[in-house]
Amino acid sequence: MAVRLGFVGTGGIANRHLTCAQKRDDMEIVATCDVVMNLAQQAAEKYGASGGSYTDVVQMLDSEELDAIVICTPPFAHGDIEEAACERGIHFFVEKPVAVSMELAGRVLKAVRDSGVITQVGYMFRKSEPIIKAQQILSTRAIAMVQAHYYMPGLPNKGWWTKMELGGGQLVEQATHMLDLGRFLAGDVKSVIGKTSTVHDWSVPEGYEEPKGLVAHKEGFEIPDTTALILEYESGAMGTLSCSLVPQVKWDNGFKVIAEGAMVTIDGPNVNYTNEDGDVSEQAPADWYDAVLVEFTDAVAGKGEATIPYEEGVKSLAISLAGYESVKRGNAPVELAEIMPAGL
Ligand SMILES: NC(=O)c1ccc[n+]([C@@H]2O[C@H](COP(=O)([O-])OP(=O)(O)OC[C@H]3O[C@@H](n4cnc5c(N)ncnc54)[C@H](O)[C@@H]3O)[C@@H](O)[C@H]2O)c1
Repeated sequence: MAVRLGFVGTGGIANRHLTCAQKRDDMEIVATCDVVMNLAQQAAEKYGASGGSYTDVVQMLDSEELDAIVICTPPFAHGDIEEAACERGIHFFVEKPVAVSMELAGRVLKAVRDSGVITQVGYMFRKSEPIIKAQQILSTRAIAMVQAHYYMPGLPNKGWWTKMELGGGQLVEQATHMLDLGRFLAGDVKSVIGKTSTVHDWSVPEGYEEPKGLVAHKEGFEIPDTTALILEYESGAMGTLSCSLVPQVKWDNGFKVIAEGAMVTIDGPNVNYTNEDGDVSEQAPADWYDAVLVEFTDAVAGKGEATIPYEEGVKSLAISLAGYESVKRGNAPVELAEIMPAGL
């Protein structure tokens, strides 16, 4: 029987998960929910939802028969949605980042643990086959250095992106992908030192016409546009993370991992590595992105495990927040243990 899904937040990224669900027999798009009714209705129509459209998640959960929900709300709009699902024993998939504060993430984590619902966080790079292979290659070797970057050639034109308290800043909102992947490849992080800067003049010049897609100017831009972290892994490995959204010409995210007897380069979902066997290049298939949702719905259907549960999202969020906390403390190192919820 197909897993019955409700979608919460039907903006940008929801389309990717709805497209995945629409083409599969083992998922049914039952209902949609967005605070903007038009968006919920449009998604329901476009992807053929069998049930209703809602502006209130509680109403959706209480009116429809759902096995799970897929939460694609902005970083600030978390907490009540997850808790409402937990209270009703409804499993949830949630897009990263799981929150913009450790306090909220800890609150939801407690609800998840108390309810026992199945959860999965949308860190989709972990499910790319070439990256899984890279992780296997690295798992038997001492890792020295994890060098990660996330460069976006401008600002997504969404109001919440420009405010720390809404989007969390680039470290929380976006570079979290790389910080999470660093944990997947090299284990947990012990401490973080962070430094941030705003390099670009984001004010809107007279006559500026916003392009489609990423923008180079925005009123109310309040987040750092350039950030550097130094990470100390529990294993003793060192790491760096550089990210910037200063307008330039190329989207580029990835890694270099230096380990005993191997160098692994990750470019998006693809991997090149050099070890005793020589140079190898592994490309992810076009639909690699679907695997993170498929694994979740399989787990809900009793077929296997969701391998990126909510607590993984909390641990990865903590690295970003430790980076910003270090900036507040004048670039002093912040131990992850200081800010992690109890028991993680
Ligand atoms: N995994 C990835 O690669 C990836 C890519 C893009 C975005 N994301 C993440 O997905 C999340 C959403 O990003 P987006 O680009 O789709 O944002 P978006 O602003 O395009 O869409 C979010 C939608 O949620 C709705 N919404 C807000 N509060 C709500 C609430 N309380 N209940 C119901 N709906 C609500 C908004 O009206 C909007 O339609 C972000 O956390 C982002 O980081 C992940």
